[in-house]
Amino acid sequence: MAIAYLNGEWQAPEEAKISIFDRGFMFGDGVYEVMPIYWQQVFTLDEHLMRLRRSLDEIRITPPFSDDEWKKLFAEAIERSGEETAFLYLQVTRGIAATRDHAYPVGVKPTVLVTVTAAPMLERESVVPYRMVTKADFRWGRGDIKVVSLIANGLLKNEALDEGFDDAILIRDGLVTESTLSNLFIVKDGIIITPPESRYLLHGITREHIIGLARSANLPLEERSISEEELADADEIWISSTEHEAWPVGEVNGKIIGNGEGGVVWQSIDTLFQESKKKMLTDAER
Ligand code: PDD
Repeated sequence: MAIAYLNGEWQAPEEAKISIFDRGFMFGDGVYEVMPIYWQQVFTLDEHLMRLRRSLDEIRITPPFSDDEWKKLFAEAIERSGEETAFLYLQVTRGIAATRDHAYPVGVKPTVLVTVTAAPMLERESVVPYRMVTKADFRWGRGDIKVVSLIANGLLKNEALDEGFDDAILIRDGLVTESTLSNLFIVKDGIIITPPESRYLLHGITREHIIGLARSANLPLEERSISEEELADADEIWISSTEHEAWPVGEVNGKIIGNGEGGVVWQSIDTLFQESKKKMLTDAER
């Protein structure tokens, strides 16, 4: 059952209402997180909380809760929802100001929204490689902050969809940044390569988790810039996000990547990923 927590009240998500003067509504003035829930537990919880703290700090909102308080709140949300496999969505906005003013209001309480909604566990059989198109990354210069204003990401994604693709790979100054809602990896001659953290891309938790998995399995991995030419010449391409885990790209700009089915390195990473999820379950049972 989907459940929402809004500023201290538990409700069905469709019942939850915010003020028209909420700065999240008026200005997109807020940050968010999307966290995967497997077997009733938040996966990579500490990493998500760390990124949340950083996002809040970057947009100068004092965290409304401590990490322990967040954890208690999430546990209650999961318990109330009763879902085994789900997404936890968290949004914190600057709060409600009496008038529309670009200047930050003083002394307002941030708005806190948490929802838990069911999502089926990803099965390898349901993973169909994406057909992607490259597009100029015209988003703002702080893609590292997970802000709720996603207008450019939405425009780029929908341009790609309208053109018959699944999503867009974004290029800034000749270099790959990420996709509209995921990070990007390529494989060339057995080496996994992903763009380094910068202000132009989100520091994805799934990206970080995959880097850790690859490093502990001694798979060669480089965090460095990827040019448009290297992208076109890659042996494998995959994207990563909470929703996609590691997801293969079969085609870019009409060119088939590898055999178009997702390559052997992607398969190894996916296997490691699935094992790391199951390990969370066994650790919790201890
Ligand atoms: N998307 N890059 C962008 C622009 C994203 O919006 C996301 C996440 C990622 C991957 O981050 P993570 O691995 O932490 O999920 C990269 C979320 C899930 C969304 O907006 O729904």
